[in-house]
Amino acid sequence: MNKALNWGILSTGTIAHKFAKTIKAMGEEAVLYAASSRDLKKAEDFAEEYGIVKAYGSYEEMLSDENVEAVYVATPHSHHFDHMMLCLEHGKHVLCEKSFTVNRQQAEVIFKTAKEKNLFVMEGFWTKFLPIYREVEKVLADGVLGDIRLVTAQYGYCTGTERGIRKFDPQLAGGTLLDIGVYAVGFASMILGYQPKAIETQVRFNDMGTDEFSSILLQYENGAIAQLTTAIQTTMPVLGCIYGSKGYMQINDFKSPSKFTVILNNGTEYDVKMDLEINGFEYEIREAQNCIMNNQLESSIQTPEQSIAVMDIMDQVRRKWGLVYPMEK
Ligand SMILES: NC(=O)c1ccc[n+]([C@@H]2O[C@H](COP(=O)([O-])OP(=O)(O)OC[C@H]3O[C@@H](n4cnc5c(N)ncnc54)[C@H](OP(=O)(O)O)[C@@H]3O)[C@@H](O)[C@H]2O)c1
Repeated sequence: MNKALNWGILSTGTIAHKFAKTIKAMGEEAVLYAASSRDLKKAEDFAEEYGIVKAYGSYEEMLSDENVEAVYVATPHSHHFDHMMLCLEHGKHVLCEKSFTVNRQQAEVIFKTAKEKNLFVMEGFWTKFLPIYREVEKVLADGVLGDIRLVTAQYGYCTGTERGIRKFDPQLAGGTLLDIGVYAVGFASMILGYQPKAIETQVRFNDMGTDEFSSILLQYENGAIAQLTTAIQTTMPVLGCIYGSKGYMQINDFKSPSKFTVILNNGTEYDVKMDLEINGFEYEIREAQNCIMNNQLESSIQTPEQSIAVMDIMDQVRRKWGLVYPMEK
C-alpha cells in the first residue's frame, strides 16, 4: 500500500462517531482528514473529539476540498441518494451506510453514475465484511449442514423518542425495514442468494405510517425458505439460524457475531469463534480503501448487483404493504 487515503465524513450523527472512532483505532492504516456537518459548530466539535484536521459547516464545502479522496456518507437513508450524487459530482469515491438508498431505482442510478465517472461506490453493509462470515461460508460449502432448507433471522429493539424520529419518520424513510430489516434480508441473501422467486409478508404500521414490525417469507428456486422478523419497539434476540438436512447453525447477534455454533443431527456440537480486531467496522473500511487504492471500482465482497438486489427485495416487500415514502411520490 502506498499511503492511507484521506477520508472525509459526511454528517456527525451516531454512526459517524463510530466510523471516526474506528479510523482512529486503525492507526496509520487510515486517515480521517475532514468532518462536515450542516452546522459548523457540530463539525468543529466532532473534529476536535477525533483530532481531525479540517471541519466544514456544509457538506459541499468539504467536497470542494481537493485533499478529500473518499467520503463516508452517514446521513439518514432518505438522503443517501442526494449525498452520494453530491460526492460523485465532486469526484469523490464513496462508502455509504445501509440501507444504500430508498429504492432500487436510486441504487441503479448511483452505480451507473459512479461507473461513468470512474469512481468507487460501495454499500457499508458491514456484516458482509466480517471475517467470521468467511468461516460460515466454508462450513456451508463443505456441506457440513447438508442441503440448506431454511434460514431464519430475527432482530428487534426499543428506542427512546430522541432517536425515534429518524427511526419512524416517513420523511427520513423511517420504519423497521430500511433500518434493520435490511440486515435480515442481507443475511438471507448471503446464505440463499439474491434472487428469491416469491415473497410473502405481513406488517404492522406505527402512528407515523411506517412499519413497526414485519415478517417476511422469501422462497427460492431450490425450495429453500427464509423467514425474517424485525421490529422497532419490540425487543427480540438478534438471532440468525441456518437449517440443513444434517443439522443447523446458530448465529447469535448475526449482524456482528463473534462466534457461531454448529449442531449436527449426529449429536456433534461445536463453536467457531473469531474476535473482532476493533469493533467490526474496520473490515468494510479496509475493503473500500484497498479497492480504491488498487483502482478497483467495485468490491467483490459487496457488489453493486447485490446492493441493487437487496433494494429490489425491499421494494417488493413495501409494494405489498403499500408503503411509499414521500420522496418517492
Ligand atoms: N452500520 C451500522 O451499524 C449502522 C448503525 C446505525 C445507523 N446506520 C445507518 O447510518 C445512517 C445514519 O444513521 P444514524 O443512526 O447515525 O443517524 P443519526 O444519528 O440521526 O445521524 C444522522 C446525521 O445525518 C445528518 N443529516 C443530514 N440531513 C439530515 C436530516 N434531514 N435529518 C436528520 N439528520 C440529517 C445529521 O448530521 P449533521 O447535523 O452533522 O449534518 C445527523 O446527525 C442510516 O442510514 C442508518 O441506517 C448504520
